[in-house]
Amino acid sequence: MRDLFIRGGLVVGPTDVAPSHVRIVDGVIAAVGPELSPASNDYVIEADGCWVGPGFIDLHTHLREPGKEAAENIDSGANAAALGGYSAVVAMPNTEPALDSVAMVTYVLERGASARVDVAVAGAITVGRRGEQLAPLAKLASLGVTLFTDDGTGVQNAGVMRRAMTYAAQLGVTLAQHCEDETLAAGGVMNEGRVSSELGLVGRPAIAEEVMVARDIDLVRLTGCPVHFLHLSTARSLALVRAAQREGLPVTAEIAPHHFTLDETACRDFDPEFKVHPPLRHASDVAALREALRAGEIDAVATDHAPHTPESKDLAFDEAPPGMLGLQHAASLTLDVVGTDSPVQFFDVLSRGPARIAQLRAEDSRPRHSAHGGAMQPGDDANVVVFDPSMTYLVDRHHLASRAKNTPYHGRTLRGSARATIVRGVVVQEGGELC
Ligand code: NCD
Repeated sequence: MRDLFIRGGLVVGPTDVAPSHVRIVDGVIAAVGPELSPASNDYVIEADGCWVGPGFIDLHTHLREPGKEAAENIDSGANAAALGGYSAVVAMPNTEPALDSVAMVTYVLERGASARVDVAVAGAITVGRRGEQLAPLAKLASLGVTLFTDDGTGVQNAGVMRRAMTYAAQLGVTLAQHCEDETLAAGGVMNEGRVSSELGLVGRPAIAEEVMVARDIDLVRLTGCPVHFLHLSTARSLALVRAAQREGLPVTAEIAPHHFTLDETACRDFDPEFKVHPPLRHASDVAALREALRAGEIDAVATDHAPHTPESKDLAFDEAPPGMLGLQHAASLTLDVVGTDSPVQFFDVLSRGPARIAQLRAEDSRPRHSAHGGAMQPGDDANVVVFDPSMTYLVDRHHLASRAKNTPYHGRTLRGSARATIVRGVVVQEGGELC
C-alpha cells in the first residue's frame, strides 16, 4: 500500500473547515495541516478547490446480490459507490433469498470484503421479510449487523413491530422502517392526488407513509428502541419526526435525492424511470424536504439505489418495478440544495450522520468494518473523499458503473463530483476512473 498525500484542499471537520494537506500512512490519517509536505514515495492527489472530508456512507443501497445479479451485484454496486464518493454502503436485505439468516448475512459480508468500498449489511427484521416471524436478530447482531429492516415493505403488523423493537432495544441495534401502510398504499403506482387522477393511475397516498411514521413513533415511546425512518417523502412525515426528536425520542430520518429533486408531475409521460416507492410527491412536499435539508434538520441523505434491468423496468408504468439508481449522483443533488457555502452540513448528511446511525464510527467499534464518518484527525482510518464542488458533468445512463441503467437524471448536467475516493488508505477511484 502506497502512502498518500492530499495536497491543497479544504479539510472539512465536524464543525469547521481549514485549508490543509492530509498525509495518509498505512491506511490511517497520519497528519493534517497547512505546513506538511509529501514524502518522496507518497502518491500525491491534487485537491485544489476541493473539499476533503470523510467518505460518504449510504444507508440504503440495494446491491441485488444474491438473486438479481443481472441488475447489480456487490462489486458493481460498490464500484458505483466509489465513483459517487462513498467509502461504505449498507446493503439492503430485500435480496432473493432475503438477508434474514446467519448464512445469507455472512455471504454478503464475505463477498463485500473484497469490494472497492466497505459493505455493511442491514438484516431483515422478519423471516423472508414477510412481517410475521422475527428473524434471528441476536445472531445477526453478533455478526456486526446494527440496522434491521424489511425494506421494500414496512412491517405492517404493529404487534410484530413492537416485539422487534423490544428485542432490538436490548441488543443495541436500530430498526429501519420502510413506512407505507399497505392497506392504504396497495395497488397504487404513483402519488395519490390530482395528477394521478388526471393520468388515470391508482395513487399511493401520503397518509400511507404518515400513519406508519406516527405509529412507530408511539412504539418508540413505549419501547425505547432506536428507529430510523427510511426514505421519508412528505412534509408531515418530517414534522412528526422533528416533534419526536424534540421530545427526546431516539428516532432519525433519511431522505432520498429523488424525493427532494423530482415531483409527481414527472410521471406525466408514463415513464417508469420515475416510478418509486414511496412515490414522487406533490411539489409542496419536495419544497418541505429541501427546506429541511437546508435548515440542517435531516439526519442523512440516503440513495435508495434501486437497480432494475432494462427488461424489467421497460414496461407499462403500472407494471414496472419501483426504484431508481442513486449512488453516482446523490452528492451532486445534495450539494444543489445544501449549497457550496455549507461544506460541514454537506458532510453531516452524507457521512457523519449516516455513520452515527449505522454505528460505523471509531467509537462504535463494530467487528469487520473500518471506521467511517471521522473528524479528519490523525489516527482516523483513512476513509476519505476529495470532492470538487464546482465540477460539472453530464449524466449519461450508458456510462454508469451499475449494471442497470435506470437513472431518472439521464441528460441532466449536475455540479459537484468526487475527484478521489480513498477506502482504508487505498485510492479506489480517481478522476472518475476506478483504480
Ligand atoms: C426498492 C427496491 O427496488 O428494492 N424500490 C423502491 O421503489 N424504493 C425497495 C425500497 O427501497 O422500498
